[in-house]
Amino acid sequence: MLKRIGKDQVRIGMFIEALEGEWLLTPSAGRRYTLEYEDDAARLRNSNVCGVFINTSKGLDVLPSVARRSESEVPGRAAMTLSASRGRKIRILTVEKIKRTSVLLKGIFNDVSAGAAVTFETVSPVIEEITQSLDIDPSILISMTRMKTKDGATFLHCIAVSALMIRLARHLKLDAAIVPILGLGGLLHDIGKIGMPIEILTKAGGLTEVEMKLIRRHPTLGHQILSRGKGMPNIVLDICLHHHERLDGKGYPMCLPDGQISLYVRMATICDVYDALTSARPYKKPWTSSEAVSWMLYTEGAFDRSLLREFIDGVVK
Ligand SMILES: [Fe+2]
Ligand SMILES: [Fe+2]
Repeated sequence: MLKRIGKDQVRIGMFIEALEGEWLLTPSAGRRYTLEYEDDAARLRNSNVCGVFINTSKGLDVLPSVARRSESEVPGRAAMTLSASRGRKIRILTVEKIKRTSVLLKGIFNDVSAGAAVTFETVSPVIEEITQSLDIDPSILISMTRMKTKDGATFLHCIAVSALMIRLARHLKLDAAIVPILGLGGLLHDIGKIGMPIEILTKAGGLTEVEMKLIRRHPTLGHQILSRGKGMPNIVLDICLHHHERLDGKGYPMCLPDGQISLYVRMATICDVYDALTSARPYKKPWTSSEAVSWMLYTEGAFDRSLLREFIDGVVK
């Protein structure tokens, strides 16, 4: 949907279709693009444009708290043209699409860092993008693994875990209404990392005991953040808080025993670890898919084995 907003409402993750008024002293003039950097957003806010046209089917909308009357939908031909071009765009899905999804997520995480609450509505466009990507090209997951670098790794990891959760849920033939909720759980499972120092998250060497203790707080912190948003499904909260629990009770933060770890958390644990192993990190090269699943099969006590076999048969084969 095309929408006109005030220039003071722009934020990272929006897709800019057009600018109203003179704004020629910038390389962005006349270009349609996703707003990726805070510097660019600030330049836009300080420019002499009168209004900004954003496309909410390709990027983030304004935050509900700052929505105002100056927003207006652009009806008719423009909207129809956009929906046709959207259909075309979906068909020619590429790695660029995933990158854009990553920018959307970055925008949401930035908002959360600034104190905004996460709601199902805020994040559902990202889940929709991921679901469409999977419907059209399931191999996109492999492309994502190659894309993972130090920069932006957290966002891509969250998107990859979300995609794996959706694929595993479909393979298990879970209720269709649960599938996007599990995708959301995958997307937000590590949101507590926004409260962790970046130096620790990107540290090339091993972590000290103090650093490890700090990192282990991210599930609890994430759960607190998500609990602030109204209507966040319990399944998402459960996944966020418990995705580092182990069936042998040696996980964290609660050392839950096997019987108290839900199916959805078990799914998340498998998807999370698989993606972590197959990703490039500052301290390691990515493992291949078969190296990752072999390691997981030989690891005692961490994973639900029958679920892991389903994952191998239905998702990564
Ligand atoms: Fe985590
Ligand atoms: Fe994770």
